[in-house]
Amino acid sequence: MNQVPVAVVTGGSRGIGKAVADECMSLGYRVVLVARNPRNLEQACRELSEKHAPDAAHAPDTAAVDVADVAAVKATAEDIIRKHGRIDLLFNAAGISIPGTFDLDVETFTRLFEVNLRAPFLFMQAFLPHMVARGGGRVINVASRNGKVAVAGLGGYSASKYGLVGLSESAYRDYAARGISITTICPGWVNTEMAANEGPSLRPEEMVQPEDVARTVRWLLSMSSSVRVMEVMLECAGDVERRASVELAKLYALRRRHEQEFNELDVQAES
Ligand SMILES: NC(=O)c1ccc[n+]([C@@H]2O[C@H](COP(=O)([O-])OP(=O)(O)OC[C@H]3O[C@@H](n4cnc5c(N)ncnc54)[C@H](OP(=O)(O)O)[C@@H]3O)[C@@H](O)[C@H]2O)c1
Repeated sequence: MNQVPVAVVTGGSRGIGKAVADECMSLGYRVVLVARNPRNLEQACRELSEKHAPDAAHAPDTAAVDVADVAAVKATAEDIIRKHGRIDLLFNAAGISIPGTFDLDVETFTRLFEVNLRAPFLFMQAFLPHMVARGGGRVINVASRNGKVAVAGLGGYSASKYGLVGLSESAYRDYAARGISITTICPGWVNTEMAANEGPSLRPEEMVQPEDVARTVRWLLSMSSSVRVMEVMLECAGDVERRASVELAKLYALRRRHEQEFNELDVQAES
């Protein structure tokens, strides 16, 4: 049996997932990075190897897969189990953020659920039986502050993250007596590409840093086996979360008004 603990990090090619993969490697884990873009995966793998891996045997393993693809996720999970023989930590970070609520089309709304909720469900469904059979393991799911406090204009994203909080909390109770620890991390705005693309105009240093999430994981892993942590919320300090919510609400309201005006112009042009 492989003696080196194995951590599977979805969304491990950048942002929060990459920072956590980095932390796991510094703690001696063999890491498996899961994301879609093979080039980003290779890049992350190269950087982490240069920093931590003395030889190819310790370098991160990678799996390029769209976690919205049910069959591909199931096949990837089976491959990982076959190849590594054990899963000590599943860190579910792969996620997407798309603004909107009732202005979302059904495909986009569904996509948010497929990536942010169904994928963590599938990875947990695949790995939990192996953790139970081995007598222990950890799952850490990255939901969001938006999975606890819904703000205007992000209804689809929030719904998917509220769902993940519920799934995790139920699993936390189910598996507590079976030696498995399941924790949900709910961060506010984190300084990553996601926040830069979809977020409000916050300065990078005003946000939670990906390394803060990585330190939270280190802290969770340092707990004795007699302690379980169901949920951790990491908010931006000061009044940043409130400011960001107000700015986004204004931004989305403005966008909706302009969409209406554009549509009216289309109708006028056609008539
Ligand atoms: N940034 C924030 O402000 C913030 C706040 C609260 C919660 N979160 C949550 O934290 C998690 C990580 O976010 P982040 O800020 O690190 O985002 P990020 O920088 O955009 O990174 C997202 C990661 O997920 C992967 N990913 C996205 N869609 C995927 C798919 N369909 N299949 C496989 N991999 C996929 C991306 O790789 P590919 O694109 O190559 O697939 C990338 O590795 C997400 O669940 C997000 O909702 C973020």
